[in-house]
Amino acid sequence: MKTEICVIKGSTIPFDKEDTAHIVHAGEIIKNGGLVAFPTETVYGLGGDALRESSSEKIYAAKGRPSDNPLIVHIAKWEDIYKITNELPEEAKLLADQFWPGPLTMVLPKSELVPLKTTGGLNTVAVRMPSDEIARAFIEAAGGYVAAPSANLSGKPSPTKAKYVIQDMDGRIDMILDGGENEIGLESTIVDLTEETIKVLRPGFITVKDLSEALNREVEIDQAILDPHSNLIPKAPGMKYRHYAPKGELTIVEGESEMVKDYINRALEEDRRAGVMSGVITVCQHAGDYDSSIIKVAGDLEKPETIGKHLYTILREFDDENVERMYSESFSEGDFGQAIMNRLLKAAGYTVIKV
Ligand code: TXA
Ligand code: MG
Repeated sequence: MKTEICVIKGSTIPFDKEDTAHIVHAGEIIKNGGLVAFPTETVYGLGGDALRESSSEKIYAAKGRPSDNPLIVHIAKWEDIYKITNELPEEAKLLADQFWPGPLTMVLPKSELVPLKTTGGLNTVAVRMPSDEIARAFIEAAGGYVAAPSANLSGKPSPTKAKYVIQDMDGRIDMILDGGENEIGLESTIVDLTEETIKVLRPGFITVKDLSEALNREVEIDQAILDPHSNLIPKAPGMKYRHYAPKGELTIVEGESEMVKDYINRALEEDRRAGVMSGVITVCQHAGDYDSSIIKVAGDLEKPETIGKHLYTILREFDDENVERMYSESFSEGDFGQAIMNRLLKAAGYTVIKV
């Protein structure tokens, strides 16, 4: 299949004539049962018509993803939620008021209209309204309901730039809308509103604290994702797969920063002697601490959002540069630190050294 790649120059509505033509064309592709990758504020999505079984099947095939892992349905305006849900708890409205459009996905009871193929056989549906205006214009053009997982091949880091979508999806889908680098760089927070206790199933930019303040009640986090060695099964099926794995071996080194620095420098020296290519993930405050030619500065310790934004890009760069071993500092600071560490730990296969 030939994949059309279109750069969208603008980032806000109204789009110029050329951008509009690309977006309308992308919408037509979805309406005709095809697949289009598109930017959102979190990561790139791989979109298909959420209400059409065959489109969901195509998405699973293009990603190489197990079909028991449900897709998020993306909408562009609040009214559209009524058609795809059966029951709307008050909390959904409160959260939408505060966080939509934005990086929050809500799990709700699904209506008949949503095929089980889209929800991986579940009778709930995950819904999100992205704040990215290219995304919303595209969803509208596509008929209002776009099912989209992240636009990576299963097992690779989510793409945060169009070039990584091209790397994974060229030849597998009809079109890629290139809207530049994504703002947040980590996938949306998923909150489950179908049970008595409100739970975060995947941490993200909107934190447990944000949600609990907005609802004025306690919000928990799915214990299964905090303790991967327990026998608990995560409620979001996607969280059980080993995700975001770089090709090389990633180790997180945790502890007092002088000790971390010493440990990593020793490991780098050993790797050098053994002829193993290795690199470091750090922050601007510590960039000068390491003796390696491959140092990736994720961001600023004082601004965790900068670390979240660059994490997946760094993991992809290590792959492109064939780095065999990587050492990362731990970035658990702040509420958003939980989301960053969730992804980093998965990428490391939970290998953590405490010094
Ligand atoms: O930021 C995002 O959410 C991005 C952009 C493209 O919007 N999308 C994304 O989709 O990350 P994906 O497919 O990579 O991750 C969706 C996650 C999976 O872990 C899946 O198991 C979970 O959402 N999920 C979807 N529907 C669910 C449901 N009904 N109940 C529980 N978990 C659900
Ligand atoms: Mg994904």
